[in-house]
Amino acid sequence: MALLRSFSTFTLLLLLLLSTTVISQPQPLLSPAEQDSVYRVLDSVNPHIPWRTLFPDDLCSYGPHGVVCDYFLQDGTDSSSAAQTVHVSELSFGYVSDFNPNPTCSPNATIIPLLFTAFPYLRKLFFYQCFNQATTVVSVPQIPASFGSGLEELVFIDNPSLVGPLSGILRYFTNLRRAVLTGNGVYGNIPDSVAELVNLEELTLSRNQLAGEIPISFAKLKKLKVLDLGGNSFAGKVPESVGSLSQLLKLDLSSNGFYGQIPESFKKLQRLELLDLSYNRFNNSGVPLFLSEMTQLRTVSLSGNMLGGQIPEIWNNLGGILGIGLSEMGLVGKIPASMGVYLRNVRYLGLDNNKLEGTVPQELGLLESVSEINLENNSLSGRVPFKIGHKMKLNGNPQLCVDLGSSFASGGFDKLKECNKQQKPNPAHLTVDSSSSSSSSVQVVVPSMLMATGFLSMIMLMLN
Ligand SMILES: *[C@@H]1O[C@H](CO)[C@@H](O)[C@H](O)[C@H]1NC(C)=O
Ligand SMILES: *[C@@H]1O[C@H](CO)[C@@H](O)[C@H](O)[C@H]1NC(C)=O
Ligand SMILES: *[C@@H]1O[C@H](CO)[C@@H](O)[C@H](O)[C@H]1NC(C)=O
Repeated sequence: MALLRSFSTFTLLLLLLLSTTVISQPQPLLSPAEQDSVYRVLDSVNPHIPWRTLFPDDLCSYGPHGVVCDYFLQDGTDSSSAAQTVHVSELSFGYVSDFNPNPTCSPNATIIPLLFTAFPYLRKLFFYQCFNQATTVVSVPQIPASFGSGLEELVFIDNPSLVGPLSGILRYFTNLRRAVLTGNGVYGNIPDSVAELVNLEELTLSRNQLAGEIPISFAKLKKLKVLDLGGNSFAGKVPESVGSLSQLLKLDLSSNGFYGQIPESFKKLQRLELLDLSYNRFNNSGVPLFLSEMTQLRTVSLSGNMLGGQIPEIWNNLGGILGIGLSEMGLVGKIPASMGVYLRNVRYLGLDNNKLEGTVPQELGLLESVSEINLENNSLSGRVPFKIGHKMKLNGNPQLCVDLGSSFASGGFDKLKECNKQQKPNPAHLTVDSSSSSSSSVQVVVPSMLMATGFLSMIMLMLN
C-alpha cells in the first residue's frame, strides 16, 4: 500500500516536471523581418493608426484581428525533432462587423508590392471595402511568380477603385480554392491559364469590368462548385464545356452579353441549385426542356433574354424551386396549370412583361408559400379565379377582371377592372366558382416574413 502511494506520488511529480518543461519551452515568435513587413502592410492600409505602438509585441500572439499565424515545420526537419517556425498565414483587411473587426482601411489605403513578396506562407488574403474612393485609383501590384503557390483563398469584395487585369491577378496561384473578386475594378479577359487552377472550387468574378468569352478550357476546373460571372461585359456563346463542370451548385452568368442557344450540355449539371442566365441575349431556343432534369434547382432565372416560345410542362420534378424568373423574354401562350400544382415551395414567380394570354389558372391560387406572383404586362383575360392578396401583381392586363367586393383583398388593383356582377363566371372554373366551400382553399396566402421585393433579393436571401 505504501509502496503504491509513493509510486503514484513519484509519477505525479514526474508528470509535473514534464509539463513544466513543456510549458517553459519558448513558443516560436514571428521573425523580426516578417513582423516588420506586417507593420508596413498595416501602415499601407491605414497610416493613421500607430500600429507599432498599439501592437508592440509578437503580432502572432498579440496582433490585431485579421492577422493570423500558423506553425510550420522547418524545411528538412522530420516531425520527431519538431523544430517549428511561425509565419503569417492569413491577412484580412476592412472592417466587416463587430464579430469580424479586421483593421479598417483609410481613404488613402494602398496595396504595397511587399504584400506579395514578404509572406511566403500566406494561405488567405482578404480585402473588404478598402479601396472605394472615386478619386484614388489603386493598382494591384505585379505579383511575382515566387509568391502564391500556397495561397488558397483570394477574396476582394467591393473595392471599386482597385484596378488590375485579371490575367495578372490569378497567375501563379496553383493551389487556389476560392477566388472571390466581386465589385472591384478588375478588367480584361479570363485568361486560358485559369484552367491550371485545378483546385478551384469557387470562381466569383461578378461586378467587375471583365469582357471576352468564357474559355473552352474551363472544362478542366473539375472541382468548381460556384461560377459567378454576373454583371460584367462578357459576350459570345457559352461553350458546351461548361456543362462538364459536374460539381457546380451555382451558375450565374446574369447581366452580360452572352448570346446564342443555352447549351444543351447544361442538363449534365445535376447538382445545380442556382441557375441565373437573366439579362443576356440568349435567343430563339425557348425555355430549355432540360430544366425538368435539374431536380436540385432552388432558383432559376431566364428573364430578360429573347428566348420566346411557350412555357413548357416541365415542373413535376421541380417542387424544390423557391424562385422562378421568366420575365421579359417574349413568352407566348397560356400559363400552364401545372405550375400551380407542382411548385409547392415557390416564393417568387415572375412571368411579367411577356405576351402570355388566356386565363389565370386557378391552380396558382394553391401556391401557399408564395410572397410574390408577378403577371403584370401580359395579355391575360377573364376573371381571376381566386382571392388575391397584395402579393399578386396583375396590372397591365387590360382584359383581366377581379372581384373587388368584400371577399377579395383590396388595394393595389386600381388599374384592374372589376368583373361585371352579371358576367358569367369563366366556364373553365365553373365548378370552383360555384362552390362556396372551396373558395377559401384557393386563397393566395402570403407569409409576412418573406417579403421578397424581387428576384435579386430572393437570391440574396438564399445565399446568405
Ligand atoms: C494619407 O492621407 C493623410 C492625410 O489625410 C496623409 O497624412 C498621409 O500621408 C497619407 N498616407 C499615404 C500613405 O499616402
Ligand atoms: C441570336 O443573337 C445573335 C447575336 O445577337 C445573332 O447573331 C443571331 O442571328 C441570333 N439568332 C437568332 C436565331 O435569332
Ligand atoms: C408594366 O408596365 C408599366 C407601364 O409600362 C410599368 O410601369 C410597370 O413597371 C410594368 N410592370 C413590371 C412588373 O415591369
